[in-house]
Amino acid sequence: QTPVIAIDGPTASGKGTVAQKVAQRLGFHYLDSGALYRLTALSALRRNTALDDEHALAKVASRLNCHFDSGHIFLSEEDVSEAIRAENVGNVASKIAALMPVRQALYGLQLGFHRAPGLVADGRDMGSVIFPHAVLKVFLTASVAARAQRRYKQLIDKGISANMQDLTNDLSERDARDTHRSSAPLKAVEGAYLLDTSALTAEQAVEQILGWYAL
Ligand code: C5P
Repeated sequence: QTPVIAIDGPTASGKGTVAQKVAQRLGFHYLDSGALYRLTALSALRRNTALDDEHALAKVASRLNCHFDSGHIFLSEEDVSEAIRAENVGNVASKIAALMPVRQALYGLQLGFHRAPGLVADGRDMGSVIFPHAVLKVFLTASVAARAQRRYKQLIDKGISANMQDLTNDLSERDARDTHRSSAPLKAVEGAYLLDTSALTAEQAVEQILGWYAL
């Protein structure tokens, strides 16, 4: 059985960084499932797809021509690694992720990442819906303040101006949407290890997860 490690948690909880490092340490493949929702959002925005037409959006999702290569993300051969991280793309991603047909359209694509020698998958429903048989499930959390602080630093480091209050409001809004939606709401699944990273470095979080995996 090819092992899967599922790492779920809210926006800016550090999942991406931590999951990628765990995958590197174990020599496993890595699935950034949020990127698939972001790619769908970007593609829909570019095609002017109506953002309330769930069937048209599901079609966009099922026809995504994307690939992942050494940390870069491509949509029809164009490197969109930066473009999908834009705030508005994240916002649209979070809205269309509430639509069941869109989630279903991305299901098979996500399963396709499950290959030997193993997979580390990060998202909102990795342990609950996509990989319920994961050998290890981790739910990463961090306070809104800690997450806003991290996002702030990331933006400033990139030379992008940012405002703590706006970031905090945006995170809280997105949390509420991810938690309260009816399709695959964000919550820790039974059997998941909870890891609060508010006061941890990424390295410390990685060590903790590797420790659990070795149990
Ligand atoms: O993780 P990231 O912020 O890149 O994800 C973008 C959006 O996609 C999230 O706000 C969330 O609503 C959605 N998402 C999801 N299920 C996943 C991964 C992401 O609903 N497995």
